[in-house]
Formats: sequence, structure tokens, C-alpha cells
Amino acid sequence: MKGIILAGGRGTRLRPITHTGPKQLVPVANKPVLEYAIEDLKDAGITEIGVVLGNLGREAIQQHLGDCSEYGVEITYIIQGNPLGLAHAAGCAREFVGDDDFVMYLGDNILDNGVVELVESFEAGDYAAGIALQRVANPEQFGVADVDENGNVLKLVEKPDDPPSNLALIGMYVFSPAIFDAIETLEPSWRGELEITDAIQSLLQDGHAIDSHVVEGWWKDTGKPEDILEANRLVLETIDDTRNGTIETNAEISGTIDLAESATIESGAVVRGPVSIAEGTTIKSDTYVGPFTSIGKDCEVEHTHIENSVIIGESEVSASGKIVDSLIGRNAQVKSAEGLLPEGRRLVVGENSNLKL
Ligand code: G1P
Repeated sequence: MKGIILAGGRGTRLRPITHTGPKQLVPVANKPVLEYAIEDLKDAGITEIGVVLGNLGREAIQQHLGDCSEYGVEITYIIQGNPLGLAHAAGCAREFVGDDDFVMYLGDNILDNGVVELVESFEAGDYAAGIALQRVANPEQFGVADVDENGNVLKLVEKPDDPPSNLALIGMYVFSPAIFDAIETLEPSWRGELEITDAIQSLLQDGHAIDSHVVEGWWKDTGKPEDILEANRLVLETIDDTRNGTIETNAEISGTIDLAESATIESGAVVRGPVSIAEGTTIKSDTYVGPFTSIGKDCEVEHTHIENSVIIGESEVSASGKIVDSLIGRNAQVKSAEGLLPEGRRLVVGENSNLKL
């Protein structure tokens, strides 16, 4: 069994963060989303992984992952170029996959329980494909499956007006190489993409059996800022307390804290976990870092009250007000304007930013 991770796409819903980098490298609990996919594949015994890259952020992903030997997996980079749909991305991996079965994992999705059960369920029968499903309140926004009581798939439809069930396809699939011939027959959908849902439906129509597995635990597509914050919350709930950094006397710490070795919480700061603080970051005195906050590398946070937020890294935050539910991009400066005249908010805001003042 091989694995492919789709790491293309434009990341439009995560702008401005994705103006300068791919969405798959946005950190959740201080680890890029893409690394969760690699770990899940490895946990399922998959060590030959193809990463399918689009045009945006191609170099950044290659530079970040390198040859991935530190994860104990072997990475092959596959260039998709223009994002013409998930089925197009899968089709680009044909040569890499060869005659093997493979897991396809959407690189911006994150899953509580990994893909082990999905793979086992597929391997227990004679299936051309296996799909991971979860019940959702808004099935019309997803690919939707109709399944019988044994989990055999009867029908699949992408973003239906009238969904046949509330079982959404989440971004993990297992395929036999039969999927590649099905992809070859596809026409672009109404949104101009080659849909993987249509390719699986065409396998069904050709008489192949398709397995389904309803995934327990949470699943998050991290397409939007609020999804990143929610994924961050969900992962921080599961982290270990690793206080490797410096905690000065008179710093007030409670809850689970993942504190990197070269990070410091200064005397007079209050940190209430779950919180993750990365290398080189200093939480200065007179600062409150509240639950469900991740602060990336080389940041300085001072005179600030921050909670339920993600600071990606290399930023200075020194603001007297409360910062909540926020996603702060790399190399940002968030400073207080107190004492400056004329009074008011002073903004230098990039394209596609989103401020609530
Ligand atoms: C894609 C798939 C859809 C699936 C979803 C899961 O949708 O086409 O079937 O339910 O991923 O996140 P997209 O994110 O391209 O709209």
C-alpha cells in the first residue's frame, strides 16, 4: 500500500495567510497540517508517500519536508501544476502508484483517529475503493454517499442540492489502481474540476464494489481561519505536558503546556493551558496567554491578553486590549497605539485581510 497526499490548491479561503505560503504548512498546535497526514499514513504502515504539489507553495513544501527521512518515510514529489480537481491530482500520481493500492489523503484535512481502520476495512474485502465518511449537518457542501446496512456504497454525488443522506465524504480514500482508468473517462464538473467523487461513482457503475467506513472522532477540513482555530483547539486538548523551556519564578502556570526548550515564560506572566509555545519565543511579564492558544517560533508577546488564537511565528505582539479567536500570520507586528495622538486604530493591512475591531 502506498500513500498520496494532495498538497495543491490555491488556499483562497485562508487569505491573506496563503498569499505567502501554502495552506498545508499552516500550523495547528505548532505543527504544519501536512505533517499530521504523514504521521497518519505512517501509523497505517505506509512509508512510500507521494506528495502532489500545485503551483502555489511548491518550493516551500519541498523545503519544509525535505526527504522526510526524519519521519521514517520516503517522499516522492509529484507536480500537478494547475489545480484541475482532486481526480486530476490523483491521476498525476499514476506512475508513482503503479500496480499498488493506495491511500489518498487531502493534505489540508486533519483527523482525530487516523486512517488505520479505513485501510483495514478496505483490505477485508474485494473492493476497488474505500471511502471515509462522517455525518454532517450540511451535506450539500460535500460529496455525499448513499450506503446500505453493510457499508457498501450504492451511490455517490458531489455537492448535491438534494442529498441522499447526511454522510459526507471526508478527505481520505483508499483506491485500487482501477481508479486511474475511471479518472481518464471524466469530464469537468459544473465547477470546472475533475471530481474524485465522479470517478468513484463511475467505478460503481462499472460494477465494482466500493467500501465505506464511518470515521469516529473529529475531522476538520482546515480551509478557513475558523477551521484552523478549531483544529488547534481539538489538537491542543490532546497534547502532553512538556515543559522543556524556562519558566521563571513568579510566572503563573496551569493546565497542559507544551513549552519548547528554548522558549521562556517570564516572571509575572500567566499561562493557562492547553497552550503550545514554540522555540525561541518569550512570553513576557504582564501577559496572559489563555487556553487553546498556539504561539509559533521566535515570537515576543508582551502586555497582552491572548486566548483561543494562533500566532504562526516570528511576530511581536504587544497590545493592551484582549486578542481572542485570532490567526496572526508570520512576521506580524501587533502593537498598542495607546498614548499616540490622534487617538484611533492604526492599520497597515494586507490584501484579503479580515479585521474585527
Ligand atoms: C472535496 C471533495 C468532496 C469532499 C470534500 C472533503 O471538496 O470534492 O467530495 O466531501 O473535499 O473536504 P472541496 O473541498 O474540493 O470543495
